[in-house]
Amino acid sequence: TARLYRDGVGVEGVDRTEVEALAPELRRVHQALVDKSAGGLNAEFACLTLHDSMPATLPAIETAAEQLRRFEDIAVIGIGGSSLGAKAVHQALVDEPGAHRPRLHFLENIDPRNLDVFVRNRSAEKSAVICISKSGGTIETGIQYLILREWLEQQLGKDKARRHQYLITDPAQGWLRDLATREDLASLPVPPRVGGRYSVLTAVGLLPLAAVGVDIRALLAGSAANAARCVSDNPSGNPALELAALFFLLDTRRHKRVSIMMPYADPLQLFGDWYRQLWAESLGKRRGARADDPPAGTLPVTALGTVDQHSQLQMYLESRRDKIFSFLAIDQRESNRRIPLTEHDRKYFPYLDGKHMQDVLEAELQATRQVITETGHPNMTLRLSRLDAHALGQLIDLYQRATVYAGLLYGINPLDQPAVEKGKQLAIRLLGGGR
Ligand code: PA5
Repeated sequence: TARLYRDGVGVEGVDRTEVEALAPELRRVHQALVDKSAGGLNAEFACLTLHDSMPATLPAIETAAEQLRRFEDIAVIGIGGSSLGAKAVHQALVDEPGAHRPRLHFLENIDPRNLDVFVRNRSAEKSAVICISKSGGTIETGIQYLILREWLEQQLGKDKARRHQYLITDPAQGWLRDLATREDLASLPVPPRVGGRYSVLTAVGLLPLAAVGVDIRALLAGSAANAARCVSDNPSGNPALELAALFFLLDTRRHKRVSIMMPYADPLQLFGDWYRQLWAESLGKRRGARADDPPAGTLPVTALGTVDQHSQLQMYLESRRDKIFSFLAIDQRESNRRIPLTEHDRKYFPYLDGKHMQDVLEAELQATRQVITETGHPNMTLRLSRLDAHALGQLIDLYQRATVYAGLLYGINPLDQPAVEKGKQLAIRLLGGGR
């Protein structure tokens, strides 16, 4: 995190004295997090202790995952927090998604195209549906499920179609829970106190991921490992608290209003989308009751190295200095290719002699870091020694924890999403429902 500090590296970063002055606040928010995490699944911040509470429910998830392995294709229907976490981990850990059975197909948007493609090209006999909605009533999810349920029933008959459906929803209420009970459909609960965007480490993410062989126990162990690293109320001994403190100070003291996550690794591109939702939906809120009260949160944006060096970097370097950069990199990659050069090629690219693709990716990351730093933008780099379930579990916990700390620093509730709910209700009204 060094380049988020001013520290003589020439960036418009935070002074260490500013973090020191924030110490009483940091102690307060840490204590609030500890208090509100106590009580397992009943706690307000139950999402931060899932590595402790989920293991008891893993046998049910693993049994369902085992059943799902008899299928070739699984439509995973869910939106936002009910989709992005599994999608991100799936992209990171399943290297050639189409090549393995079963294959996951994430049907997130209400746009009919992907659903049409799924139905046209799959056999119902070999397909299953996992429908995920915590509230059990989100219309984008519900509608896609209804269409696939009809397709399964038309192809297989009502009775057989039932065995191709898995519902993940609130344990006690909502349309989906009602359906699961009435029609005796396989179902798993979303812990009531865990909100959508914090739910990747519940059945919401764990069932689809386990079905395709992701080591979900390692994911949880990774989360536990990061949580164990974050027990101090001093930011220098707690990376999640330090991250939250620095981003908070960069926003409120240095007017850094855009936070860009830029993985230099294709498998982490969707992790950026998961972070984008987590940060925006949790922190983008009014801080007081009055319309002119300063709002909370930095706008999260994702970019991909090296691709966006050929596009966004122009703006990063010459437009407003209102940005914070988080680069992600992986040290040991399974794939790495030597660059084959003939005598002729070597004349044009002598500097590539003996190099591998990974060397070039790394050089490009270093170059971007350097120009970003020289331009004055605060930045940090998170390096994963390797990309596996344990490392992803750590990253998930780090960002969830930092988001909750940041929410507490801003004095807002990081778990609700009133504006998103307003949008959902308005759409229902425009369709002729609600009041
Ligand atoms: O994080 C959130 O709360 C949202 O993104 C929800 O996950 C999303 O709106 C879907 O809600 P549900 O799971 O109730 O269908």
